[in-house]
Amino acid sequence: MPGYKVRDPSLAALGRDSIRWAEERMPALVRLRGEFASTKPLKGFRVGACLHVTKETAVLMRTLLAGGAEISLCASNPLSTQDDVAAALAEEGVSVYAWRGESEEEYYDCIMRVLMDGPQITMDDGGDLTVLAHERQLADGILGGTEETTSGVHRIKALEAEGILKYPVIAVNDAFTKYLFDNRYGTGQSAIDGVIRATGILLAGKRLVVCGYGWCGRGIAQRARGMGAQVIVTEINPLRALEAVMDGFAVMPMEEAAKVGDVFITATGNIRVIRAEHMALMKSGAIMANAGHFDVEIDVKGLASISISKRRVRPNVDEYSLPDGRRLYLLAEGRLVNLAAAEGHPGEVMMMSFSNQALSVKYLIERAGALEPKVHRVPEELDERVARLSMECMGIRIDEPTEEQRDYMRRWERA
Ligand code: ADE
Repeated sequence: MPGYKVRDPSLAALGRDSIRWAEERMPALVRLRGEFASTKPLKGFRVGACLHVTKETAVLMRTLLAGGAEISLCASNPLSTQDDVAAALAEEGVSVYAWRGESEEEYYDCIMRVLMDGPQITMDDGGDLTVLAHERQLADGILGGTEETTSGVHRIKALEAEGILKYPVIAVNDAFTKYLFDNRYGTGQSAIDGVIRATGILLAGKRLVVCGYGWCGRGIAQRARGMGAQVIVTEINPLRALEAVMDGFAVMPMEEAAKVGDVFITATGNIRVIRAEHMALMKSGAIMANAGHFDVEIDVKGLASISISKRRVRPNVDEYSLPDGRRLYLLAEGRLVNLAAAEGHPGEVMMMSFSNQALSVKYLIERAGALEPKVHRVPEELDERVARLSMECMGIRIDEPTEEQRDYMRRWERA
């Protein structure tokens, strides 16, 4: 049995049921597992993964195991581990170092354990594993890596721009079959799910402020509108703001949105988007949640500094009292609300993201030593394969172009 550190190994049976539930929603990835089991493309390679330890991640881990990989796994957020799933994976031979509620120190300690296991491939969500491998000079034996999320790709591109990235990293986030589905429909649903599970509020008729109109923000805005909220978007990018306007949303600066919003959800990837100066303008009862990868978007210290007291009033809900009697609510301590207060994205979209992950790891191993230490796109043919496989699994067929149509698309002459 490999080493592991989880909350409670006796939760494994519960975890197995939970993983089976996810598997039923992730048929394309299960199909890839069958292929990996017969061809063993990862045989003898150790994958070091820093991911949200959820039932969907477990389906990916089982796929890599079937492909012959050895795996060390830690969490990519201190609050996102599903302890039953972690226990089940430990029992299945994964070196899991993860539990819900890790302290900051424990969080980094778990990442270090994964690195000390000597991975040849890193699989990251947010960039912490990749960055630590570089900071601690532990990148030498690493052949390549993958990165799951927008914030992580951003950080790894910054390593590349400084000329210090030591191995090739595939930006899984940037595959079409990832961000158009996971970021938009996954975050769209799961962020709202987190807010509702934490608070139980009715969204219909609420003024819901979405900060950031990237793919995640779009998804949240769309879903909130579908539930009857009056959606307001804040942005710093004029192009995205313009899109939000034409998509029919109210757009205004945070300073104005702060005065009217009932619920605020950040999804910008940037730092201190809701600050104390904005909180000072909010209505009593306003609820703030973050859907971005890091807990930097809502200025939690700023909120504490303008408050006279704080208390937990429900799981994942902290009430901050202001000197004038107003009460503001912060969900999940400003951490990823969809994973901390709900179960993360549903399997249907994680199936696509994680099929890209599995195929990208295989691709990196096949080309070990041949790729430059840069950020690479998921090859188009893999992205298309994930789309085809997903459609097939959904039982939806599409047309094939005729020979005449193929020919026409290659020509500049009119027919
Ligand atoms: N990121 C968002 N949702 C997730 C999930 N369900 N599992 C793993 N990573 C995620």
